[in-house]
Amino acid sequence: MSKKMILDLDTGIDDTLAIAYALGSPEVELIGITGTYGNVLVEQGVRNALAVTDLFGHPEVPVYAGLPHASRKDSFEVLPVSAFIHGQNGIGDVEIPDSDRSPESGSAVDFIIDAVKTYGKDLVYVPTGPMTNIAAALAKAPEIKDEIGKIVLMGGALTVCGNVDPWQEANISQDPDAADKLFRSGAPVTMVGLDVTLQTLLTYKETATWRELGTPAGRFLADMTDYYIKAYETTAPKLGGCGLHDPLAVGVAVDPTLVDTLKINMKVDVEGPTRGRTIGDNDRLNDPVKTMQVAVGVDVPRFLNEFMTRITGLAKA
Ligand code: BDR
Ligand code: CA
Repeated sequence: MSKKMILDLDTGIDDTLAIAYALGSPEVELIGITGTYGNVLVEQGVRNALAVTDLFGHPEVPVYAGLPHASRKDSFEVLPVSAFIHGQNGIGDVEIPDSDRSPESGSAVDFIIDAVKTYGKDLVYVPTGPMTNIAAALAKAPEIKDEIGKIVLMGGALTVCGNVDPWQEANISQDPDAADKLFRSGAPVTMVGLDVTLQTLLTYKETATWRELGTPAGRFLADMTDYYIKAYETTAPKLGGCGLHDPLAVGVAVDPTLVDTLKINMKVDVEGPTRGRTIGDNDRLNDPVKTMQVAVGVDVPRFLNEFMTRITGLAKA
């Protein structure tokens, strides 16, 4: 059986690139997208996921609306910095048609649980926004931690500082409690954080090749990603490109050899001034079983080549 993948997204420019990477990867079948909040409200992210899967020629991918806010909060508002980086509509303010599909009527959390029951070790779940949906799934069906193939998340920072403040990476900062529950659950988690995602950068040179394809998907990808690169010129002028955060998590889910990992039991600080920090769990330091891996090195040229080959191939069709 081929590997089955679920993406859990706050769609989002790099989340959209993650969808494109997954759809351009013959090794995996994208069996569904679960929506979360973060770069956008959950409704906007779901709208974007439906619209871009249509544009990429894959209207068969079901999209579920997930939980609309963090476990310890009762609402969510998009931060101005998120709108600056991803645009008001989350996809660089590029206009693409709404899908004529609706989100699935069932719950995203139940979809995740059912998929684990159906596909077991053949399922890889890739969250690239807050960890709220998977934490809720683990609370409802704790046994899925032993049944799922793996979870490859984009979030956190172990060897570098955060991007929200010195401690916190954006996805973890939205719901540190949910991420801590996931990290301590014993589920087989690979953390793909800023340690590696800020090493994989895209520039206007690559987006120009998408525009030159002359297809609607190529033009959309180029215009959307140029918006993101432009925002990075303000938020991170020294980088020289935009960080390919979410697509790198998909890349690692498809091919784990793209990164070097450290086996370590992790936790998230949930109290005090370092709330949101992703760090080794002292209480499980001497536990011989390490359930998590943290990506600390990445083969940048090989990933960028895979990224361009897969996404360009999808946009050409
Ligand atoms: C993460 O935060 C979001 O803005 C991006 O989509 C990515 O998932 C990077 O810190
Ligand atoms: Ca994201």
